[in-house]
Amino acid sequence: MPTHLIVLAAGQGTRMKSDLPKVLHTVAGAPLFVHALRAGDVLAPERVVLVAGHGADAVKKAVADLDPAPQVVTQDEQLGTAHAVLQAREALSGATGDAIVLYGDTPFIRPETLERMTKARRAGAHVVVLGFHAADPGRYGRLILEEDQLERIVEWKDASETERAITLCNSGVVAADASVLFDLIDDVGNDNAAGEYYLTDIVAAARRRGLTATAVFCDEAETMGVNSRSDLAVAEAAFQDRARATALEDGVTLVAPETVFLSHDTVIGRDVVVEPHVVFGPGVTVETGATIRAFSHLEGCHVGSGAIVGPYARLRPGAELSNDVRVGNFVEIKNAEIGDGAKVNHLTYIGDASIGARTNVGAGTVTCNYDGVLKHRTEIGADVFIGSDTMLVAPVRVGDGAMTATGSVVTSDVPDGAMAVGRARQLNKPDFARRFFARLRAARES
Ligand code: UD1
Ligand code: MG
Repeated sequence: MPTHLIVLAAGQGTRMKSDLPKVLHTVAGAPLFVHALRAGDVLAPERVVLVAGHGADAVKKAVADLDPAPQVVTQDEQLGTAHAVLQAREALSGATGDAIVLYGDTPFIRPETLERMTKARRAGAHVVVLGFHAADPGRYGRLILEEDQLERIVEWKDASETERAITLCNSGVVAADASVLFDLIDDVGNDNAAGEYYLTDIVAAARRRGLTATAVFCDEAETMGVNSRSDLAVAEAAFQDRARATALEDGVTLVAPETVFLSHDTVIGRDVVVEPHVVFGPGVTVETGATIRAFSHLEGCHVGSGAIVGPYARLRPGAELSNDVRVGNFVEIKNAEIGDGAKVNHLTYIGDASIGARTNVGAGTVTCNYDGVLKHRTEIGADVFIGSDTMLVAPVRVGDGAMTATGSVVTSDVPDGAMAVGRARQLNKPDFARRFFARLRAARES
C-alpha cells in the first residue's frame, strides 16, 4: 500500500523575528522541513506535498534543490491545521493508500516511530495519532483515551480543568487513509476557542462514523518543535549530541566531542580521528583512518583514507583528497582533486585544480584561478615539485615530474620533467647595504 506525506509548513514563525520562513531555518546545515522529509523517507512515500504559506516563494526555491522535490502547495490564509491539510487534497487526488501528516518545524520524529504508526494502521486503526507523555503538558492538545480507543483530542484552549490535567499529548503527526482523511476534514468546523479548523477534530469525526482511532507513543524529545531562535539553538544542540554519540559508536575518535560540529549528512569512517574544534558543513565524507586536526573547517568535500588535514585547514566544496594526502595549516582547497600521497602543507590556496600523486606543493603557493571575470583551471601532474611562493596563473599546466623555482610566477605550461623559473634574476651589489645605511645615519646626525 503506497504512502504519501503531507508536511505542514505554512506557519509564519513570528517569534523567530526573521525575514526567512521558519521552516527554512537550519539545523545541522539542513532546513527544518528537510529533517521532517528525511524521517518520512523510511516510508518510501509515493507523493510528498509541502503546504507552504508565509514565504512560499522562498520555500519553493529551497525545495527545487531536493531530489526528489516535493510538490509545494500554498495555504494563503492560516485557518488551522485541518485547513492546511486540505490544501493538499488536489495534489493527492486519485492517490490510494495512507497519508501521513508531519509538521515542517518538528525535525526529530524518528523513522522508526513513523514505521510504528503504519504498523498500527495495518493492525486496523482507521486514524493513528502520534502522542507522547509530556513532562510539562503546557498548551499541547490532550488525548482523550478510553482503554486503547482514542475518542477525541481536546485543544488546551478548549479544555476543561480535568482535561488539562491529562499529560498524554498530541504531537500533531497523524496517519489515515488519504481519502478517509479528507472526508473526515470535511466534517471539521471552526467553532472553538481559536476559531480555527483543528486537524485534531478528525478523531471525534472518525468516532462519530464508527471508525476506530488509536495513539502510538514516542519519546517527548522527538516531538520538539521550533518556534524561536532559542528553540533553534536547543534543536541544534540536541542534533549535535546525537550525531556525536553516533560517530563515537561507529568507531570515530572525537577527542573533545562537544567541540566538533557535524552536519545532517556527515559521513565519517572507522578509526578516523577528529581533533578538537572541527566544523563539518554539509556534504562531507571522510574515509577510514584519516585524521582531521584541530580548528579545521570542511564542507562539500571528500577526504581519502589515511589523509591528514589541518590543523587550521579549510576544505571547500569540490575538494577531493585521495588516500594519504597531507593538507596542512592555513591551506584552502576548493574544487580540486589532490592525488594519492600529495602534500600541500603550508599557507596555500588551491582552487579549480588537479594535483597528481606524490606531488609536493611548497609553502605560499597560489593557483591564480580568477581573472576577474572567469575561473580557470590549473593542472599539476604527478611527482611535481612546486617551489615555495609559486603563483600559478591559470589556465596553466605543469607536467609530470616537473618543478617550479621558488618565487616563480608561472604563466605558461611547463613540460614534463622541466623546471620553470619565472622571476627576476638575482643581482648582488657588493658593499651597497653598508654604504647606504652609513649615508642615512650621516643625514640623521647632521
Ligand atoms: C498543534 C495541535 C496540538 C498539538 C501541537 C503539537 C491542532 C489544532 N493542534 O497545536 O494538538 O499538541 O500542535 O505541537 O492541530 N500550520 C499550518 N497552517 C495553519 C496552522 C498551522 O501550516 O493554518 C502548521 C504550522 O506551521 C505548524 C503546525 O501546522 O508547523 C502546527 O501548528 P501550530 O499553530 O503550531 O499548532 P499548535 O497550536 O501548536
Ligand atoms: Mg505549535
